[in-house]
Amino acid sequence: MQSLQQKASEWSGVAASDAFAIDETNLFETLGGIQPFIDLSTNFYNRVFDDEEEWFRSIFSNSKKEDAIRNQYEFFVQRMGGPNLYSQRKGEGNLIRFIEPLGELWLGSPGMIGSYSDAEICHPALIGRHAPFPVTHQAAERWLHHMQQALDSTTSIDPDSKLFLLFGLAFRHTAYFLVGGNEMTRQRQQVQCKHAANGPSTS
Ligand code: HEM
Repeated sequence: MQSLQQKASEWSGVAASDAFAIDETNLFETLGGIQPFIDLSTNFYNRVFDDEEEWFRSIFSNSKKEDAIRNQYEFFVQRMGGPNLYSQRKGEGNLIRFIEPLGELWLGSPGMIGSYSDAEICHPALIGRHAPFPVTHQAAERWLHHMQQALDSTTSIDPDSKLFLLFGLAFRHTAYFLVGGNEMTRQRQQVQCKHAANGPSTS
């Protein structure tokens, strides 16, 4: 069976080894703090909430823009080597990384440490948090379109870091990882999940 990582690499065109280059650098230090991440997420969600494509804008209709900006930049800051803002606010279980044979999963639930395999994915937190939304190939391309535009207009991020964020850091890879996870969640929603008790919090 094709793993989620393999699917994400095939669909995104980004090799998992490139996607996980994130762990070899500290972008938070390179960029010099939190402000560039706030700028990026603000530019991103300004575009998303004003999107002329109603089908995409409506995916975010239950979120407040300020909350969405904060959720995203705190997550990015933490994932890119900065302070643990996201897990301090949301709980540790929402930002635990796993090593698995095919690469590293961004987020997972704590009960799965040591037992993770692609066949066992039930509630990795980032997939879980996206489960209510239609994370399709089309949605991934629209998300990436807005992220590309947001990066283009964020002057506090240098060109090399922008490339790194889109490809090296796996925005592209992660977007398609979430598409695969979303498909899997929907296929398995009838199946009893042995990790259900360890799923991400709903805060
Ligand atoms: C949250 C959609 C890709 C990271 C959200 C939310 C929506 C959404 C509707 C809720 C907004 C909020 O209230 O915070 C999508 C769609 C994607 C996508 C349609 C297309 C593939 C990504 C990618 C990443 C990401 C590639 C990471 C690089 C996050 C994070 C949150 C979030 C960290 C906040 C979760 C929370 O704390 O509740 N996304 N997303 N998303 N997304 Fe995505």
